[in-house]
Amino acid sequence: MPATFGHGDTSWFVHDRFGMFIHWGLYALPARHEWVKQMERIPDEVYERYFRHFDPDLYDPELWAEAAANAGMKYFVITTKHHEGFCLWDSRLTDYKAPNTPAGRDLLRPAVDAFRRRGLRVGFYYSLLDWHHPHFKIDRFHPLWNHPDRDRLNRERDQSKYAEYLHGQVRELLTQFGRVDILWLDFSYPGPDGKGRDDWKSEELVRMIRELQPHILLNDRLDLPEAWDFKTPEQSQPQEWVKVDGQPVVWEACWTFSGSWGYHRDEDTWKSVEQLVQLLIDTVSKGGNLLLNVGPTGRGEFDERALSRLAGIGEWMKHHGRSIYGCTAAPQDFQTPPGCRLTYNPATRCLYVHVFVWPVGELHLPGFAGKVEYAQLLNDASEIKMSTGSGAPAGPQGGENSTLILHLPIRKPQAVVPVIELFLK
Ligand code: GLC
Repeated sequence: MPATFGHGDTSWFVHDRFGMFIHWGLYALPARHEWVKQMERIPDEVYERYFRHFDPDLYDPELWAEAAANAGMKYFVITTKHHEGFCLWDSRLTDYKAPNTPAGRDLLRPAVDAFRRRGLRVGFYYSLLDWHHPHFKIDRFHPLWNHPDRDRLNRERDQSKYAEYLHGQVRELLTQFGRVDILWLDFSYPGPDGKGRDDWKSEELVRMIRELQPHILLNDRLDLPEAWDFKTPEQSQPQEWVKVDGQPVVWEACWTFSGSWGYHRDEDTWKSVEQLVQLLIDTVSKGGNLLLNVGPTGRGEFDERALSRLAGIGEWMKHHGRSIYGCTAAPQDFQTPPGCRLTYNPATRCLYVHVFVWPVGELHLPGFAGKVEYAQLLNDASEIKMSTGSGAPAGPQGGENSTLILHLPIRKPQAVVPVIELFLK
């Protein structure tokens, strides 16, 4: 079992493996990155126009939940508030919330209900940063970071009042929506002109969180070394199982389809279905989870680029979910062949060879001989014939006869990533 410093229940999490991140807020309207307020140093009175025009008339979270479930996702994490400070729910602690926009209602609750109805677990993202709150001290990431009157403005700000607000809002989120499975707090940047545990009153916050929802899984961005349940590498794939102090830990990679988390109209670096499926496989092959992000539009929809990718992933998951759910890294004595990834289900003792590069005729698995009882393609359960030895070079795993040779069809099967299911002896 991987290590964790938290107290939450990770058993479902390391089984389910695949979730949907949703970044939705006022930044869907400028549609050019969720950091737009900071990147373009937009003052409150100008950013205000997005609040006045936020009218997601096509918002139907049933459709979101359907798209996530069909893609094979088992949980979702939604931005209840992002750095801009805007809240999707009807918080009693602020006016800066969806009910006061043309949307005219709480937008969080219907999403929670819809995803729950589909059997997905519920996660809340909540931004520790807040570029709207009057007591959040201006720091290096704030839109007003180079304001000429910054020092004077900061003298009027009392960060502890903001911390109180933050704690109050987290309390609302953990008391008004029933069971919450994940709390995803974002983020700390301690040091000069940054913010960390003292600014958030992190320790006190964690105590409250654990008290309100003891099973909850808490991410690792509170600037506390030992209060998290899982690590969260972002937009960069780890080369091996994520470790802390040399120990493999529970971890979740988060990735966007393109470069932005919020809806970005003109951003064009969208990953293909094949790349996304490979990302999911690669993550599970290293013992991790994948949280894949959608940025809905200002009308309240997933755009075509997201929907087509989700559908493509779902098509693959329908036939290959068995190599993802309940799976983890392969036992160390199974060496990954070139162009492949291995996952393993310890409960069924099945080993999955995900073939990223389809070879001509044969796939050689050094060290596997004698360990496999039966082999088949996962997409159609067609037998893959096996033999040992011949033609295989002697290697570090043993002599000629220790190599298992899989005899593959010449034509690549109909799957973005074909998978061979090996039933171990
Ligand atoms: C970052 C970004 C943010 C995004 C998050 C997701 O910390 O600030 O925009 O929400 O990562 O991991």
